[in-house]
Amino acid sequence: MLRSTLLYLSNQQKVFRFIRRNRLAKRFADRFVAGETVDTALDAVAALNAQRIRASLDILGESVHNEAEARGAGRQYVHLLDRIAERGLDTNVSLKLTAMGLDISEDLCVEVVHQVLARARDHGSFVRLDMESSDYTERTLRMFYERFYPVYGNHVGIVLQSYLFRTEQDVARANQERCRVRLCKGAYKEPPTVAFPDKKDVDAAYVREMHALMRDGNYPGLATHDEAIINEAKRFAKESGIDASRFEFQMLYGVRRDLQEQIVREGWNMRVYVPFGTQWYPYLMRRLAERPANLAFMTGNIIRE
Ligand code: FDA
Repeated sequence: MLRSTLLYLSNQQKVFRFIRRNRLAKRFADRFVAGETVDTALDAVAALNAQRIRASLDILGESVHNEAEARGAGRQYVHLLDRIAERGLDTNVSLKLTAMGLDISEDLCVEVVHQVLARARDHGSFVRLDMESSDYTERTLRMFYERFYPVYGNHVGIVLQSYLFRTEQDVARANQERCRVRLCKGAYKEPPTVAFPDKKDVDAAYVREMHALMRDGNYPGLATHDEAIINEAKRFAKESGIDASRFEFQMLYGVRRDLQEQIVREGWNMRVYVPFGTQWYPYLMRRLAERPANLAFMTGNIIRE
């Protein structure tokens, strides 16, 4: 119930306008979002790199509604890739196809994403296409396999969500095509016709798909804060003789920093997803929905002010 309410609120721009004026809510956002500018984000990445943690930078922004906004979002990513190269930071980027105009037209979106991918390839970098709600899964994968992967190969990768029934097959295809996958549980509110309603089924699917990606995949990103699953990945790697260099763990900025540091100390690869920008509200609401205890953290901080 609380999760549904928070996910509903994540789409309410009016609520965002109200919250953005609130200095304390913004301070809470600072824990999960690396500021509103490229410079604050690059500084956050530099701090992570100093701890031997890699990053993936995400310019916050959900669906755009006109062509100019989509082209503008594409240019921001091109500029970001240039700035990353200038500072020599160990970070790639993640983007959402709806922020590149997918809701306006597929052709526009493809054109904008091509510009970003071409620049990423010039810099020897990598672009992860974040996965959005199940309304977009088929289109995202089709565009990836038909338009992006054949041209940019390992400079572009996808995200698969273990809560979807279809994902086991999507993992098998990705392994067959040797493309790079980030595996996560999935953050959107999905109907029981397409996704497991029960968390234990999502977790079990995650483990099966993680094994398949670790065994047969191309440098998968295991995106989770679930300690039991992370321990299972380590156990499976050791048992199957899978070298630590063949995959990476991924977590979100500001979440389980203790575990991030521990993973690095143990000699595993660790990447942190670092979102930044002015449009932090829907992202933050999804993080609250994942862990409503963060609400207590937020109110606690506000009360202490
Ligand atoms: P789970 O929800 O079972 O949580 C495991 C443990 O971690 C619990 O103890 C929990 O309290 C803690 N935890 C989880 N989230 C937390 C939070 N926000 N704050 C504090 N503690 C938290 N989703 C998607 O649909 N499309 C995408 O492209 C991506 N991309 C992505 C990239 C990366 C690097 C990560 C880590 C995650 C995503 N996600 C995503 C989000 C993902 O689908 C999922 O919603 C969250 O990672 C939470 O699920 P966990 O696997 O952590 O497990």
